[in-house]
Amino acid sequence: MGKVSSEFIARDLPVGGSGTSSHGHWLEVRDLAKQFGGVYALKDVSLNVRRGAVHGLVGANGAGKSTLIKALAGVIEPDSGEIVIDNKVVKIPDPHSATNLGLAFIHQEVSLVPGFDVLRNMAMGIDPDTHFGLIDWRSMRKRAEQVHERLGMHFSLNARTDDLSTAEQWLVLIGRALMRDAVMIAMDEPTASLSAVEASRVHKVVRDLRDENVAVIYVSHRLDEVVDLCDDITVFRDGAAVMNAKRENITKPSLVRAIVGADVERLEKDESHVHGRVVLDVRNVSDKKLLRNVSLQVHEGEVLGLAGLVGSGRTELARIIYGDSKATSGEVYLDGEKTKFHSAADGANAGIGLVPEERRSQGVFLDRSIAFNVNISSLRDTVVSHWLPLLKIGAGNARALKSTQEVGVNTKDMKMLIGSLSGGNQQKVVIARWLAQRPKLLILDEPSRGVDVGARAEIHRVIRELAANGTAVVAISSDSEELVDLCDRVVVMNEGKVSEELTGAAITLENIVSMSFNRKED
Ligand SMILES: Nc1ncnc2c1ncn2[C@@H]1O[C@H](COP(=O)(O)OP(=O)(O)OP(=O)(O)O)[C@@H](O)[C@H]1O
Ligand SMILES: [Mg+2]
Repeated sequence: MGKVSSEFIARDLPVGGSGTSSHGHWLEVRDLAKQFGGVYALKDVSLNVRRGAVHGLVGANGAGKSTLIKALAGVIEPDSGEIVIDNKVVKIPDPHSATNLGLAFIHQEVSLVPGFDVLRNMAMGIDPDTHFGLIDWRSMRKRAEQVHERLGMHFSLNARTDDLSTAEQWLVLIGRALMRDAVMIAMDEPTASLSAVEASRVHKVVRDLRDENVAVIYVSHRLDEVVDLCDDITVFRDGAAVMNAKRENITKPSLVRAIVGADVERLEKDESHVHGRVVLDVRNVSDKKLLRNVSLQVHEGEVLGLAGLVGSGRTELARIIYGDSKATSGEVYLDGEKTKFHSAADGANAGIGLVPEERRSQGVFLDRSIAFNVNISSLRDTVVSHWLPLLKIGAGNARALKSTQEVGVNTKDMKMLIGSLSGGNQQKVVIARWLAQRPKLLILDEPSRGVDVGARAEIHRVIRELAANGTAVVAISSDSEELVDLCDRVVVMNEGKVSEELTGAAITLENIVSMSFNRKED
C-alpha cells in the first residue's frame, strides 16, 4: 500500500501543539444533553478529544454513542450543552457547518447513493467551489485514486456501489471521509461488517491518521480493537459518560464491567447434537461464480458456524440454501426432501428463517413499528403486508413484547418505529421475530454485528435456546470470536470451497483465522 504524504489529509493545518487548547484538547464537549420523547439519549455528556489521538466510544446498544456523533455532525440539535473547538464555542446547525469546521463523519448507517459509482460516492458533499472548482473531475479523480490506493480497494473507482459487498461499501464510506481536509474524523462502527483482514486495513488507516495529527473518534463494540487502537476511551451507559480513561489504565475486563455494569457469563455448549438427525444436507453445490462442490450437513439442534474471509462464498451458499439464488449443479435437501425453491419466499414457507447480513435493506421495515417487524412471519408475508394491513396488530403486540423482552430490547413500546431504535436493538428485533416461529432451519448472517457485549451474550443464549428446541442453525460470522463462543461445529470456507471442519476443542480463534487463509488445493 502506498504511503501518502501527511499533507494529504492535514493540509494547511498547523501541526504540533498549535491549534489545540492549553490542555491539548482540540474539541471539547461540555454537558451535552438530548432527549427523545422524554427519554435522555445524552445526559450531560462531557469529553475531550485530542488531535493526534484516537478516542474510543464504547457502550451498550442505545447508550447514546451515535447520538453524540450526530450532534457533532449537525444531524441533530442538542437540547443543552456546548461544543468547543479550538477554545471557541461553536454551533453546528447542519452537516455543512460541520464540514467547514474540519469535521468528517462515517455514520453507522451505510449512506451511499444507489446508481452512483465509487468515485461519485466518494466525492459526495465536497464543496466544488472551495476545493476543486466546479467541474474539476480530473483532480477529484486524482485525489480519489490516492485514497483508493491507501485503502487498498480492490474494486475500480468506476464500479457501481450497488454491486459491491457490504464490506466494500464501508471502504467507500471511509474513502469519502478521507477525501476531505478533516481535522477530526468520527467513525461509527467502521469495522462492524468487516472481516479481520479488512478491519486491520482500517486500523492501519486510523493509525496513519493519528500520526498525521488528525483527531479520530472511533465507535466500536469490538473491545479487542478498542483496547488495541484507542488512546482515550469514554464509556457510555444510558446516555451518560460513566468513564473517561486513558488507554494505559484500562483492561478489557474492566471495560466490559463499565459497559454492562456486571461480568458477562460464558455459554455452556452441548455438543451431543453434532450427531443428531440431519435437517440440512447440501450436496456438491456449485454456482456460476464462486462455489465449487460444496457439501455440508447441519443436524437438529446443532449450531454450525461458517467461517472464512469476506468473498469466500458463505453468503452465496446461504442464498442458495434459502432460495434467493440458484445452484448450477448439486442439490440441497431440507428434512430429507430435495428443495426446489424459486425465491426466498419459497424457502421461508418451507421453514427456513433468515437473519440477513444487511439489516437495513433486507431485515427490517424502518418506517414500521417494532410489533410489525416482529410479527411478519415470512418473506412472502413481508412482501404482501407491506401494503396490505393483513396483520392482527392487537394480538401481535403481546407476542412482540414477549419475544423482544426475551432478547433484551430496551423498550416496551411496541408501536415505536423500529427506525428510532439503536442499531443493536434493531438486530435484536430481527432475532426476536424467530423466537415465536421456531423455524426448521435458521440462517444468521453476522448475527451480532453492531451488538454490544451484553446483548451479544443474550443473542447467543437465544440462538442456543432455539437450537435446544430442535432448530438447526447456520451462523455466518466474520468475527471469529463469535464462532468460538457460539458454535458446536465450524466449517471454514475458502474461495468457494469447504476447506476445513473444526469440532470441540479444535474450535479456537487461532485455528479459524489461520485456516481462513489456507487455501486447500484442488
Ligand atoms: N430519532 C430518534 N427518535 C427517538 N429516539 C431516538 C432517536 N435516535 C436515537 N434515539 C434513542 O436514543 C438512544 C440512544 O441511541 P443511539 O443510537 O445513540 O445509541 P448507540 O449507543 O449508538 O447504540 P448502538 O450501539 O446500538 O448503535 C436510544 O434509546 C435510541 O432509541
Ligand atoms: Mg450507534
